[in-house]
Amino acid sequence: MEGTEKKSLFSAVQPSGAVTIGNYIGAIRNFVKLQEEYSCIYAVADLHAITVKQEPAALRRNTLGLMALFIACGIDPEKCVLFVQSHVPAHAELAWVLNTVAYPGELSRMTQFKDKSAKHAENVNMGLMDYPVLMAADILLYQAALVPVGADQKQHLELTRDLAIRFNNRYGDTFTVPDGYIPKGSGARIMSLADPSRKMSKSDENPNGFVTMDDDRDTVIRKFKRAVTDSDTEVRFDPEHKPGVSNLLTVYCAFTGKGTEEAEREFAGRGYGDFKLAVGETVADALAPVQAEKARLLADKAYLSDVIAKGADRAFRIARKTLSKVYRKVGFYRGE
Ligand code: TYM
Repeated sequence: MEGTEKKSLFSAVQPSGAVTIGNYIGAIRNFVKLQEEYSCIYAVADLHAITVKQEPAALRRNTLGLMALFIACGIDPEKCVLFVQSHVPAHAELAWVLNTVAYPGELSRMTQFKDKSAKHAENVNMGLMDYPVLMAADILLYQAALVPVGADQKQHLELTRDLAIRFNNRYGDTFTVPDGYIPKGSGARIMSLADPSRKMSKSDENPNGFVTMDDDRDTVIRKFKRAVTDSDTEVRFDPEHKPGVSNLLTVYCAFTGKGTEEAEREFAGRGYGDFKLAVGETVADALAPVQAEKARLLADKAYLSDVIAKGADRAFRIARKTLSKVYRKVGFYRGE
């Protein structure tokens, strides 16, 4: 079935450095899974990325790298709209309008704003605070019914819903109020390998805490070998008492498709050393073909440029429709 009857789905990833297996398990994996059922629109969120300092050359490189990674992971640019956020001006334009229904109080209460302000105390800028309003603009422009994200974005999604409802109440029905699609259980929040009480994050100063989609086999295996576990010996899924081991089990299950009980049985009576090696090898085996495909795509600049240009064009057309509707509703003069 083609396009029109399918519901829309939107999500994005920031090109702000390496993409981690947390990003993959929490979000990108579902981007691939949902592409048959929904009319999917995926962006490389470069406007969001500059809310923390980026090196311009690295931002350009990471933008292209992320686009190649999306495709290498299995997102089909023929089925989905894949584009770079800054190529579609409607995102910044709608964010401006939504700012007029967003309150500073609710934005300053966002957990991510508080965390990032503490972490980047030298650069607490308005963009950092406005980040969720731009994210709401991303989603609402495409009238998305569903937004696949990890658990850390739940609060931003709730704000998006609030802004959509507030705008609809003030100006009449304009936006679809979206639902989140967050993985059930611990896959929604992959933890740091070095400190399983913290989320795995690409901005962690300790590179042993995260595994990136670009890490080579030896690095992947070494990082898993060093992963923090506990003083017990039993491989058992128990996030409260065994957060490190449970996190490794979650990663293992995500990459093998096995259930936790099956994995527990597989490692019964085997030590942590064996277990960690098996998780490392599994992840390295899964990443190898993705890395090869990404490298192949990056070598084919003409193809990537074409995907990016077509994606921008398709996204632009959809976004412009919503923006025109918004401009009409708020009373901007559009000619007689
Ligand atoms: P970003 O780039 O920080 O993260 C991309 C996606 O990865 C998920 N994620 C995780 N999932 C599980 N475990 C983790 N440790 C983990 N770390 C990150 C995030 O939840 C996210 O889904 N603000 C978004 C980017 C964005 C966006 C949007 C998303 C911009 N506009 C509109 C949805 C809709 C973000 O955090 O990206």
